[in-house]
Amino acid sequence: MELDVAGIEQAVATGAPPSDSRINALLAEAFAHASKHSEGTVAHYIPILSRADPEAFGLCIADVSGGLHELGDTRRQFSIQSISKAFVFALVCEAIGHERALEIVGVNNTGLAFNSVVAIELNDGHPMNPMVNAGALATTALVPGRTADEQWEAVREGLSLFAGRDLRMDDEVYESESHTNLRNRAIAQLLASYDRIERDPLDVVDVYTRQCSLSVDARDLAAMAATLADGGVNPVTGERVVSATVCRDTLAVLAASGLYEASGEWLFDIGLPGKSGVSGGLITVAPGKVGIGSYAPRLDLAGNSVQGQIATAYLSRAMGLNIFASGSHFRSE
Ligand code: DON
Repeated sequence: MELDVAGIEQAVATGAPPSDSRINALLAEAFAHASKHSEGTVAHYIPILSRADPEAFGLCIADVSGGLHELGDTRRQFSIQSISKAFVFALVCEAIGHERALEIVGVNNTGLAFNSVVAIELNDGHPMNPMVNAGALATTALVPGRTADEQWEAVREGLSLFAGRDLRMDDEVYESESHTNLRNRAIAQLLASYDRIERDPLDVVDVYTRQCSLSVDARDLAAMAATLADGGVNPVTGERVVSATVCRDTLAVLAASGLYEASGEWLFDIGLPGKSGVSGGLITVAPGKVGIGSYAPRLDLAGNSVQGQIATAYLSRAMGLNIFASGSHFRSE
């Protein structure tokens, strides 16, 4: 989609991050700029998501020194949905290591929809990457735990450490998605038929559905993103959640496939790893600098939050976050 960034000058990413007051000013500008957009529609394939307020918009920046900058509906709760995939992948990488994650789950973009069954067939049953449903289910299957309940608790605790507070599941979202997730059950069973999942596939879908139903707000997302920006240490609690190596690996996957089939366009315009979810959440990570979390439930055709993307594009340019935007070492213009 068109990110409405014409005229917003690209600041280089190689300098120091802006001051607190400058971040607050740019946050307000990005918020006002994105607020002018009302394109897109709220997701409805999970029935309860269609009840979201299309006007809701919250934008939050958490910096790696523990500062929080927020505007709008940053306290409104919503289900984390696919954004959970990034953090469960990080937890699994921590448990099984770089090589096995690469081999079992994969890191290449499928170029197909996030819930594609065809992608599995085209790749001999390989799930391809952890940001599509097949790869996310294969990833959740690898979460340590003897039983599905133990795995679920490991996921809930792990994501809570990223957020810096105790996260809870939204029971209504879980019920709604559990009644309608036939496609995910089909995907898990197909993966099991290729011996890509070693646990009961329907148990895996249940843990995955729970993880997608965790309730968060834009501040939680910013804190979770800032933990990935800070080499795996939550900048508010000071607690290490995953290693710096795992952080690096997770961000590489997000850069390649965090925004579905639109990941290339996102990287071209914004130049940062990110992950979106169908409830309208979006995280963006500027390594060593900030995490951005937003909530705006109107989605574009690829399933990404319209206002979230526009606000993030604004911040990436104005704050000099795009990791590809260097200045010359010898010239200071
Ligand atoms: O499995 C699903 O379809 C939802 N729980 C999550 C979908 C979503 O956010 C987009 N996924 N990449």
